[in-house]
Amino acid sequence: MSVNWVLPFDEKLYPEGCKIVEPEAYVKMHESTVKDYKNFWAGIAKELSWYRPWKEILDESNPPFYKWFVGGELNACYLCVDRHAKGSRKDKVALIWEGEPYANGMPKEVRKFTYGDLYTEVNKVAYMLRNTYGLKRGDMIGIYMPMIPELPIVMLAASRIGVAFTVVFSGFGEESITERMNDAEAKLIVTADGGWRAGKIIQLKKIVDEVLEKAASVKGVLVVKRVDCEIDMVQPRDRWYHEELAKVPEGAYVEPERMKSEDPIYVLYTSGTTGKPKGQVHDTGGYMTILHATMNWVFDVNEEDIYWCTADIGWVTGHSYLAYGPLLEGMTEVMYEGSPSYPEPDRWASIIERHKVSVLYTSPTAIRSWMKFGDEFVNRHDTSSVRLMHSVGEPINPEAFKWFYRTVGRNRVVFGSTWWMTETGGIMISHIPGKAIVPMKPGTNGLPILGIDADVFDENGNPQKIGDRGYLVIKQPWPGMPLTIYKNPGRYKEVYFSKFLGSYYAGDYAVKDRDGYFWILGRADEVIKVAGHGLGTYELESAIVNHSDVAEAAVVGVPDDIKGEVPVAFVILKVGNEPSDELRRDINSIVRDKIGHIASLKEVYFVTRLPKTRSGKIMRRVIKAVLTDKPVGNLATLEDEASIDEVKKAYSELRQELSRKPT
Ligand code: WTA
Repeated sequence: MSVNWVLPFDEKLYPEGCKIVEPEAYVKMHESTVKDYKNFWAGIAKELSWYRPWKEILDESNPPFYKWFVGGELNACYLCVDRHAKGSRKDKVALIWEGEPYANGMPKEVRKFTYGDLYTEVNKVAYMLRNTYGLKRGDMIGIYMPMIPELPIVMLAASRIGVAFTVVFSGFGEESITERMNDAEAKLIVTADGGWRAGKIIQLKKIVDEVLEKAASVKGVLVVKRVDCEIDMVQPRDRWYHEELAKVPEGAYVEPERMKSEDPIYVLYTSGTTGKPKGQVHDTGGYMTILHATMNWVFDVNEEDIYWCTADIGWVTGHSYLAYGPLLEGMTEVMYEGSPSYPEPDRWASIIERHKVSVLYTSPTAIRSWMKFGDEFVNRHDTSSVRLMHSVGEPINPEAFKWFYRTVGRNRVVFGSTWWMTETGGIMISHIPGKAIVPMKPGTNGLPILGIDADVFDENGNPQKIGDRGYLVIKQPWPGMPLTIYKNPGRYKEVYFSKFLGSYYAGDYAVKDRDGYFWILGRADEVIKVAGHGLGTYELESAIVNHSDVAEAAVVGVPDDIKGEVPVAFVILKVGNEPSDELRRDINSIVRDKIGHIASLKEVYFVTRLPKTRSGKIMRRVIKAVLTDKPVGNLATLEDEASIDEVKKAYSELRQELSRKPT
C-alpha cells in the first residue's frame, strides 16, 4: 500500500526581490564541481591565508581516514582575528554580546569587542594558557562555560597556541562532563562560577568540583567570574581567570602556531541512542575551508551585515557558525547569553530590533516555541533589518517555516533549512547552496552545496527512486569531515562507512524530489513500523502540526499485537486552546487524511512540554519508555526532567478516563 506524503512537493516560494536560479541551472553548475571536487575545494582553500601551501590536496591512502591539504600550514586564530585586526577591520565591531539580565525594557549588559580588542584578548589569554599552565601544541583542554565572550575567546586562544579543546555544553551534568574529560584526557578545565539561564543561576564550578574527583587528567581549573555566586576555590588547583590575566604583561603577543592542515582543532562529542559519546575530531585546514565556503554561499556575507546565530557554543552550530565562521569572514556578530524568551517571549525579537540583525541562524524548535505565542510578540518589534534566515538541527515543519517566513521574513527574505551534522563540520545542503538561490520549498533542505556529492540510497546502496524514502549519503570526501572518532578509529569506520562501502552514511532518512531537492526526514532509527510500513516520526508530527490549534507534537511507536507498532502522539496546544476529545478526533483525522489510515494515531495526549535534549531534539525514546513501562535510560542530555512527569501524567489520566467510559 502506498502512503501519501505530507510533503507539498510542488510548492515553491520566490522571495520578492531575490535573484533566483531554477534548480536545473544550479544542478549543472554543481555537477562540474563534484566531478573535479579536489581542485574545486583547493580553489576555495586558496582564498584563506596559509603559512605554507599544501603538497597534496587530498591524502586518500587510508580510507576512510582522509586528510585534506596535506603539507599545508595555517592557524585558525590568525585567520579569524589577526588578519582583520592588522587590516582594515581593526576598529570594526567583531562581537556584540548581550547578557541575559534585563531591567526596564533593556538588557543590563552589552559588551562590544572590535577586531582590535579581540586581538588583544586572544593574545593575553594565549599567553596565560602557555605561561601559567604550560600548555603547548598537541595538548587538550576542556571548556565548560556559559555563553559569555570569554568562551569563544578561550577557544580562539587555544587554537592560537595549537591546543585542542573539547567544549561541553553548560547545561550538561557531572556525568556527561566526566565521561568527556576522561575520554579526551583534558589537562585543564576552563569554566565560570555560574551562568544565567531564564533568570536562574546555573552552578558550573560546583559541578566541575564533582568532576575533578573522577577525572584524573585534569590538573587545573580556570574560573571566569560571571554571576559572583559563592564557590570553593582550592589553591593552587583553581585560579580566577581575571587574576591570571592581570599578570599578563601589557601588549603581550603570542606568535600563532603554524598548524598542519590535518592537526586537530577540536573534539566535539555526539551522543546517539546507544553507546558512549563519539568524539568527533575535526582538522584545521579542511574545517576552515568548509566554513569559508558556506559562510559566503549560505549566509551571503556582506561587510555591513549584523549576524546572529542563536545556537549555544556547546553544540557544533555554535562552534562552526558562531565561534569561527563569522569571524573568519570578518563579520559583526551578536552573541546572546540566555533564554530567547526571557523575561518575556519577545526577547529574541527585541535582540533583532536593537542590534539590527540582518542575518539570522536559528532552529525549528526555537521557531515553534515562538510560534506558540502567536504573532503579537514578533509584532512588538521591528524585525525588518533581517534579510536572510536559516534554520538547523531538525526537519522544519512547513507550518513553522511558513509562519517564520511570513512574520520575520515578511514574505520576502530567503529562508532555508540547512542540513548538516557535527560530523560534517559545516553545512552540506541548503537553499543557497553556492553562488545561487534556488526557489524555496517549505520543509525542504534544498540542494547539496557545490562540491558535495550527496545522494539518497536504498537499502542496497543503489540510488533511491525520486520521491521514495531512503538513506542520506555523501559519496565523496569533503573538507571539514572528521579525521576520526577520538581514540576509536574502528568505530568511525563502522558507524559511517560500513553500511554503504565507499560512502559516508549520515544515519538520516531522506527523500529526493523531482527538482533534486532533499527532504531530510529525521534519524533513520526513529521510524515506526506499522504493519510492516515504516512511518517517520517527522512525517506524522508534521501532519499534526497542520492543525491550527497545535504548536508542537511528538510521535512515538508503541507495541501493537496485530500491527507490530502503532503511533501515539503527544501534543502541545497553542496558547489559548483547551484539550478536548473533539480536538483528539480532529488531529487524528488530519493524520489519516494526510498520511493514510495506516498512520491512525492510537492515542493523542495533551501536554505542555516534551522531553527534549538541550539542543532541542525531542527525546522520543524517553516518551516511548514511559509508555511501555521500560526504564527511561540515560537522561544526561535531557533539558527538563519535569517533562517526563507530564508525559507520565497525561498517559495515566487518559488511561483512567478511558477505563471509566462505556465501550
Ligand atoms: C538533524 C546539527 C533536518 C539530522 C548541525 C542530523 C536536520 C542531525 C537538519 C545532526 C535540517 C540537522 N533538517 N534535519 N535542516 N539539520 N538535522 O550533530 O537528523 O547536532 O543527522 O548537528 O540533526 O545533529 P547535530
